[in-house]
Amino acid sequence: MQTHLRGRDMITTQEWAKDELDTVIDVAFDLKRRRALGEPHALLRDKVLAMLFFFASTRTRASFEAGMAQLGGHAMFIDSAVTQIGHGDTWKEIGEILGRYNDGVAVRHVDWGVGARYIRAVAEASRVPVLNMQCDMYHPFQALADLLTIIEAKGDPSKLTVNMSYAYAASYQKPMSVPHSVILLLTRYGANVRLTRPPEMRLAPDITAQAEENARKARGGFEVVEDFEEGMKGADVVYAKAWGPMLAASDLDESARISAKYEDWVVDARRMEIADEGAVYMHPLPADRDIEVADEVIDGRWSRVFDQAENRLHAQKAVMALTM
Ligand code: CP
Repeated sequence: MQTHLRGRDMITTQEWAKDELDTVIDVAFDLKRRRALGEPHALLRDKVLAMLFFFASTRTRASFEAGMAQLGGHAMFIDSAVTQIGHGDTWKEIGEILGRYNDGVAVRHVDWGVGARYIRAVAEASRVPVLNMQCDMYHPFQALADLLTIIEAKGDPSKLTVNMSYAYAASYQKPMSVPHSVILLLTRYGANVRLTRPPEMRLAPDITAQAEENARKARGGFEVVEDFEEGMKGADVVYAKAWGPMLAASDLDESARISAKYEDWVVDARRMEIADEGAVYMHPLPADRDIEVADEVIDGRWSRVFDQAENRLHAQKAVMALTM
């Protein structure tokens, strides 16, 4: 267990050592147990987290805000649209000024090619920890919550095949941040990680290279499969969601044309039966029901989606309590 994490940013789990991540998991389960028992755990009394959103949210906002209240502090919601960002406040003003008012600064900015760079720039300017509430490249708190959920549902990740799969949705060019963060974190924990995706839905090459290296070091596996049903075979975890073909399409029309080729990449009961008998289905939500996933799966015996959503709270409280 590591005891010296105060002041650390959480932008991607890849920048945290394995024993530091183990500490987060341990503290998250402890805080989950303490909340279940009704034990007060005001570890951040009088502390304030600024939460700056450039994009909509249900779970992230609600879980950070509830988490700060349960830790005895306060979370300040800031919608970028009603700030002076449009009028000249750059990452420098945001990092410097929110960092002086608060004990932590959390940011969601998912614009492709912009989000991660913006959050890193805010972190450079901030004197307090910066927490990534999702950018174009990473969604670290989602992946930490997913790891908690997998451990609860299936046990030791190093004994599991985790199928991180593309699923169809045409609603908009969804970020790659969830598949990036899931493959980065689960390979650290020695899982056999299978990335299933159409050829046009490649993830960022530097991320897949890091996942391969993680798997080598952890004596796990990392493979890429291009057939939806092939990816399901024998999987203990089916984690299937949409992302956009950002590396293959130059505009939204081209992106929609590519996505339309994969309309049948929908998780239904027949596909879940191809996976291991005890397989679980995961999705970070919001899901496009009957487009990415059939109701019979997301509402069925396989589904762990609400445990995932709950575990956002516990994972985030752990990181906030350790860093702020
Ligand atoms: N999974 C997730 O980040 O949900 P929100 O977009 O609702 O915050």
